[in-house]
Amino acid sequence: MPNMPMAQLSILRYPDLRLNTVAKPVAVVDDRLRALAADMLETMYAADGVGLAATQVDQHIQLIVMDTSEQRDQPVVLINPEIIQRSEDMALNEEGCLSVPTVYDKVERHARVTVRALDRDGQPFDMEAEGLGAVCVQHEMDHLLGKVFVEYLSPLKRVRIRTRMLKKTREEQRAA
Ligand code: NI
Repeated sequence: MPNMPMAQLSILRYPDLRLNTVAKPVAVVDDRLRALAADMLETMYAADGVGLAATQVDQHIQLIVMDTSEQRDQPVVLINPEIIQRSEDMALNEEGCLSVPTVYDKVERHARVTVRALDRDGQPFDMEAEGLGAVCVQHEMDHLLGKVFVEYLSPLKRVRIRTRMLKKTREEQRAA
C-alpha cells in the first residue's frame, strides 16, 4: 500500500449555498476517491460526528462515510448509495449535523432502511440499518441531494438557526 498522507478537511457551514448542491454519481472508484474517503473519515472522527457527506467538504459526488458504532471502530464508506427498501413505520429522533454545529432538533424518518452502495473497492453491497444507523444514512443521503436537516424544521426555527450560524461564523472569523 502506498503511504497516503491523511488530512482533515474543512466542513461547509449552513447556510452556505454550496450545501444545496446535488451530488453527481461516482464514475470510477480509484485511489483518489479512497483518499478522499479516508480524509472524510478522519475529519468526521476529529469532529466527533457519526456521519459525513462529500457535499459537506465541498466535493459534489455521491460519497458518504459513517460510523455509528459505540467504539467508533467500524467505519463505513458508501459510494452511490440508494435506498432500496424503507419501512412504513417512521421514527422521530433528535439530529445534529457537523454543518450546523450546536443545533439539535427532531426529525421524522423511516425507522429502517436498506441501502445499496459500492464499497471502497467498488464492490456493491447492501446495508440494513435501524436506529441511529437508519437516521444517519438518511441524513447523509439528504446532503447528497443538497438538503440539510434544518429544512425539515419550521420556517421560524430555520431563520433563527440561520442567524445563529452566521453570527457564530462572524465571531470565529473575528477571533482568528
Ligand atoms: Ni449533516
